[in-house]
Amino acid sequence: LHIVHIAVEMAPIAKVGGLGDVVTSLSRAIQDLNHNVDIVLPKYDCLNLSNVENFHHRQNYFWGGTEIKVWFGKVEGLSVYFLEPQNGLFWSGCIYGCANDGERFAFFCNAALEFLLQGGFHPDIIHCHDWSSAPVAWLFKEQYMHYGLTKARVVFTIHNLEFGAQLIGKAMLFSDKATTVSPTYSKEVAGNPVIAPHLYKFHGIVNGIDPDIWDPYNDKFIPVSYTSENVVEGKRAAKEALQQRLGLSRSDLPLVGIITRLTHQKGIHLIKHAIWRALDRGGQVVLLGSAPDPRIQNDFVNLANQLHSSYADRACLYLTYDEPLSHLIYAGADMILVPSIFEPCGLTQLTAMRYGSVPVVRKTGGLHDTVFDVDHDKERAQSAGLEPNGFNFEGADPSGVDYALNRAISSWYNDRSWFHSLCKRVMEQDWSWNRPALDYLELYHAARK
Ligand code: ADP
Ligand code: GLC
Repeated sequence: LHIVHIAVEMAPIAKVGGLGDVVTSLSRAIQDLNHNVDIVLPKYDCLNLSNVENFHHRQNYFWGGTEIKVWFGKVEGLSVYFLEPQNGLFWSGCIYGCANDGERFAFFCNAALEFLLQGGFHPDIIHCHDWSSAPVAWLFKEQYMHYGLTKARVVFTIHNLEFGAQLIGKAMLFSDKATTVSPTYSKEVAGNPVIAPHLYKFHGIVNGIDPDIWDPYNDKFIPVSYTSENVVEGKRAAKEALQQRLGLSRSDLPLVGIITRLTHQKGIHLIKHAIWRALDRGGQVVLLGSAPDPRIQNDFVNLANQLHSSYADRACLYLTYDEPLSHLIYAGADMILVPSIFEPCGLTQLTAMRYGSVPVVRKTGGLHDTVFDVDHDKERAQSAGLEPNGFNFEGADPSGVDYALNRAISSWYNDRSWFHSLCKRVMEQDWSWNRPALDYLELYHAARK
């Protein structure tokens, strides 16, 4: 099959959240199965071009009253076409956050379809994502399907229904198949008026992570390479490096890591509560978080100051976006906390496991589908063909997160060898795209019937 993704994020060159990771890692997985994958992305002026190989200008075309420059390059082995309208729509130093985001991305979607048409592409599948490339679905059905891209079918993936529900509703209507990023989230949103009429073509497929991009055996950001065979030594070295880098005490305490966008979705009040609780219980805490909302950012700056006076050697809040540091935290933490209020899939718990860190999560969306509690979910894990792999909790009040965190920290203190065997076990579970990529392929084929 020939699949073209039209997307506005792509890791590592233009990533804001998990959508960017998924565009890259799903594409790589499908390409590895011998299908032909292209990606069309806006050429932002803030692209991280050091990660683009053989970047060069290809051609120009006219559309929408402006000239559009087409650039090409390889990103993580994938062919990427970058569209740069000369009207400057993507010269604003950011991916999201302009007052006219809706207009910018709608323009991009139309320009991308025009590029495929004028460039003589004949894809089998056009895959678009979230509100930002939702317009592809109806522009295709109303226009381009009749103009020449006749054989293509449109697959639309919802990564987060919280934003742009109206646009998402139109894409649900016009796409041939629609997915969201976990089975549980697909059930959670099934009653939503923009989803409910389309359940017959709506599927929940859990995301994977790219095992080559996230690989503790081959990771330039961690001090010692490790696999599940030497997970204890590898993680000890990473923990020491992390403690040293952040000025924390070098003692071996249970280290709780949190890596997140600091937004309502991620359970801000539970994160704050858990930080104090983990410290009370004798743990260390490292939070790497970026808050798009300045009020939340201020709140966390205040919390960081407060912690600094009483727990300088045991807590560090690093309030920015830092990909290299995230690798060291995934490797150096004993457990990674994800107390989201809702979570369509969540990649942090999967990456945590890849690095042998035990996930402690709220039971929602994809967190529910991927984390099985060591005390409560043996059967549920078995029916997924897995051993239990973490700690979870229900409810959105502090007692829930206390319950899961207490058990995780106590087991670290009371039975270290059991805890280490859990780290080894989670590392050996396969959260790559191996399985979900096959589900997507099946869906692509079904879309063409
Ligand atoms: P979402 O897309 O809702 O933010 P996901 O769990 O799907 O949540 O994906 C988040 C991705 O962003 C993960 O790859 C995670 O490691 C990364 N990430 C989140 N916050 C930060 C940060 N402050 N610094 C570096 N990476 C981050
Ligand atoms: C969204 C969701 C997250 C998901 C990611 C990738 O950002 O919030 O749960 O993992 O998309 O699909």
